[in-house]
Amino acid sequence: MTATVNLAKLIDNAIRADVRAIGSYHVPDASGYIKLDSMENPYQLPDALRAELGTRLAEAALNRYPVPSYDTLKRRICAKLGVPAGYNVLVGNGSDELITILATTVARQDGKRAVIMAPVPAFVMFSRSAQFAGADFVGVPLRADFSLDREAMLAAIEEHKPSLVFLAYPNNPTGNLFDADDMEAIIAALGETGIAVVDEAYQPFAKVSFMERLPRLPNLIVMRTLSKLGLAGIRLGYMAGAAPLLAEFEKVRPPYNVNVLTQVAAEFALDHVEVLDRQADLLNEERSRLAAALAELPGVTVFPSAANFISLRVPDAERVCTHLHGAKVLIKNLSKMHTLLANCIRVTVSTPEENAQFLNALKTSLK
Ligand SMILES: Cc1ncc(COP(=O)(O)O)c(C=O)c1O
Repeated sequence: MTATVNLAKLIDNAIRADVRAIGSYHVPDASGYIKLDSMENPYQLPDALRAELGTRLAEAALNRYPVPSYDTLKRRICAKLGVPAGYNVLVGNGSDELITILATTVARQDGKRAVIMAPVPAFVMFSRSAQFAGADFVGVPLRADFSLDREAMLAAIEEHKPSLVFLAYPNNPTGNLFDADDMEAIIAALGETGIAVVDEAYQPFAKVSFMERLPRLPNLIVMRTLSKLGLAGIRLGYMAGAAPLLAEFEKVRPPYNVNVLTQVAAEFALDHVEVLDRQADLLNEERSRLAAALAELPGVTVFPSAANFISLRVPDAERVCTHLHGAKVLIKNLSKMHTLLANCIRVTVSTPEENAQFLNALKTSLK
C-alpha cells in the first residue's frame, strides 16, 4: 500500500520554522570555471607522493570502523603542527564540524539561551552553527578598517556574557590579523564565564599563532584545519585546548567522525608537511604580487591580507562579479554580507596563470 502524505504539510509540522525559513549553504557549480571563491590551494601533492599515497590508501582497512581515539593521527598533528607539550587535540570532519560541536556543547537546555559571539563580518558558520544549536548569536561590528573594536567587544561581553567567542586569526572575509593585545583583553574578560576560540584556518599563510599562548590562557581553544594548507578534499580540522575542556567537547563529537581514508591521507601528508609549507610560501609570494597589481587599478582599494585570499573594494561589485562570471572566473561578492563590505569582493590567491586571468578579467570589467 502506498501512503498518501502531503509533504508540504509534513514539513510544516515536523521541521523547525527557522530552518524552513532559510536556504542551504550555497556552493556555486564551478565546472568550467577558474575557481577563486573558496580559498583552496591550487596545487596538488607532487606525482611521486600521490603515487605513494595511492598505495597507502589501498591498504586502509575500509571494512573496519576508524579507531575513535585517533591516537596516531593526533600524535602526528601535535608533533608536526606546533601543539604545545602537554596539550592534545580533538579532530573533526573539517573545522566546520568542530564549530558545530562547540556550539552544540554550550547551547543551554534550561530555558535560558546561551550566547555565541564574534566580531562581524565573520565566517558565516559561526552564526549558522549558533542558530542550529539553539543559541543566540551576537555579532559585534569591526571598525571600518576591519580592526577589532576592543571597547565594543568588552562592553558586549559584559552585557551578554557569551559562552563562546570566535575570533578568526586572520579573519575571513576581511583577511587581516586582529591586534593580539586586543584579543588577549577579550580572552581575559571572558575569564571563567566564556571560552575563546581562536580560529586559525589561515595560519599556514599568516605564520603566526595563539597556540603557544595556550598554557597561559586556560579558557582558550585554538582551532585549525588542513583545508587551506592543501587538503580541503579530505576534510580534517583539529582544535587544541586544556584537557578538561576538550573532554567535554569529546562527549559531543560523533565517535567515527573522521573516516579512515582521511586519517591515512592526513598522516601521510603530515609526514611531508614541508611540501605543503613550500606551496603556502609560493602562494604568499603570489599574494604580494597580486595585491601590488590590484592596488594599481583605478578605483580599487586593496585590504591587507595575511591569508591566501585578498579582499578589495571596487566601484561596483555587482558589475565586476557579473563580468568575471562571464569570463569564467568565480570569486565571492561580499557586498551583501555586511554594510562594512559594501562593494567588496574576495579572491583566492592561486597560480600565477590563474591570478593573471583574474587580473585581466577584472581590468576589463573596470573599463
Ligand atoms: C575562518 C574559517 N574557519 C573555518 C573554515 C572551515 O574550514 P574547514 O574546511 O576545515 O571546514 C573556513 C573556511 O573557509 C574559514 O574561513
